[in-house]
Amino acid sequence: MSNIEQTLSIIKPDAVERNLIEEIKSIFIKKNLKIKENKKIHITKEEAAEFYKVHQTKPFYDDLCAYLSSGPIVVMILEGNNAVLSNREIMGATDPKQAKDNTIRKLYGISIDKNSVHGSDSIENAKKEINFFFKN
Ligand code: CMP
Repeated sequence: MSNIEQTLSIIKPDAVERNLIEEIKSIFIKKNLKIKENKKIHITKEEAAEFYKVHQTKPFYDDLCAYLSSGPIVVMILEGNNAVLSNREIMGATDPKQAKDNTIRKLYGISIDKNSVHGSDSIENAKKEINFFFKN
């Protein structure tokens, strides 16, 4: 049975800087996630702080916000069967060192901070995150 969902994906500054945009997009497409919307943007630290608000009590929050606003990023709406979970499997574990072979973070991640991609962790957060970048 199909369960079509949408999720938010971000190609982070470390991957944009290394010209990995098309490479990463092609992985999603090959794994049956459609890119419904996408745009390249450069957000401010304040916008990053708002986006990552759920992490505001974490010790890495300030660095995380500085990092996401340090250069251009690509934000995308991915759509497909079980897209939230599927995207998380395609990305691999947060820490590239722990990520399984052939996941994006294993292939391209540099460190837990520079882990190349972000993806929503639940349907509820996917809705919030899509709305954050693509409100019309
Ligand atoms: P992301 O999926 O974008 O969500 C929050 C980010 O915080 C995460 O990817 C990591 O890049 C970053 N981060 C930095 N340090 C940690 C940590 N110790 N645990 C989890 N995430 C971390």
